[in-house]
Amino acid sequence: MGFGPDRDVQDFTHTPVMPEEVVKFLECKPDGIYIDGTLGGGGHTGEILNASAPTGRVIGMDWDEEAVSAAQKRLERYSQRLTIVGENFAHIKKAMEDLEIKGVDGILLDLGMSSYHLGKPERGFSFSFNAPLDMRMDRRQEKTAYDIINNSSCRQMEDILWKYGEERWTKRIARAITTKRQHGHISTTQELSDIVSAAIPKKFHPKDIHPATRTFQAIRIAVNDELDNLKKSIDDGVDLLARGGRMVVISFHSLEDRIVKESFRNLMRGCVCPDDFPQCACGKKPKLKIITKKPIVPSQEEVSKNPRARSAKLRAAERL
Ligand SMILES: C[S@@+](CC[C@H](N)C(=O)[O-])C[C@H]1O[C@@H](n2cnc3c(N)ncnc32)[C@H](O)[C@@H]1O
Repeated sequence: MGFGPDRDVQDFTHTPVMPEEVVKFLECKPDGIYIDGTLGGGGHTGEILNASAPTGRVIGMDWDEEAVSAAQKRLERYSQRLTIVGENFAHIKKAMEDLEIKGVDGILLDLGMSSYHLGKPERGFSFSFNAPLDMRMDRRQEKTAYDIINNSSCRQMEDILWKYGEERWTKRIARAITTKRQHGHISTTQELSDIVSAAIPKKFHPKDIHPATRTFQAIRIAVNDELDNLKKSIDDGVDLLARGGRMVVISFHSLEDRIVKESFRNLMRGCVCPDDFPQCACGKKPKLKIITKKPIVPSQEEVSKNPRARSAKLRAAERL
């Protein structure tokens, strides 16, 4: 991509969301070991390293190579206490096995894209810039938005738009995409955005968002398997937490928040045997205590300084 090293660091600017709350809910302490599963620009990692000084350790994971190289440079002064792993956080167990880390005191996931991703037209995440249909966060992966848009059946497309975008015009959009494909491949964000805008009747165009917003969200989630990765990382991450260790997740839309809420609830529950069983046969024990009964949201002041924070919801739970 030809970005010089200094450009990388400068470009990867991302203001961390609810930094004080993250440190508070993780209960950072000097001898703690923490996993930041979404290293990104390193904002939260820096906060955790400061709050756990002088000996606290952070394992920062990110599957985006540009995030990894920018964070390596930006957080160089912490290199004694920071280990960076360029991996999908769904592989959290394997990553810790490789580092021979058996238990940690806290795990943070700050989901979604960084401001960096949105500001890079060539990554194809945004309908505001014309670019190839890519949307991969991990560019080692083969599947791109182009593959999904050009190879899915009409039915599969409807499913993706409904499940991952909660789009009400799924049938019309899926039909418009498959019809357009009869005349050649759909290759760019502009083409996709135009097809979606034309498929939704003008009088039903949403007032507050671009008509293609939900479609782009849905395709991005499908390309990156975002919801499956989230679920797996919560389930596996909890097993890595030491007793009293905390898991903190910041989500940015209702599909993510639902998974966090349901996963925490499920891990809080013990026996799931039917009521008429004389004794427990499932052996399931509660693993988590939920700390945030309701999600924590950023203050008005934070949102006015950092509009990306406006839809953020933070949930925290503690390992029993
Ligand atoms: C919102 S940003 C995190 C920003 C970071 N907390 C900060 O303060 O700078 C999300 C980051 O998580 C990464 N990411 C998203 N899903 C991931 C996954 N499944 N595995 C690893 N990294 C992921 C993205 O590449 C992105 O860099």
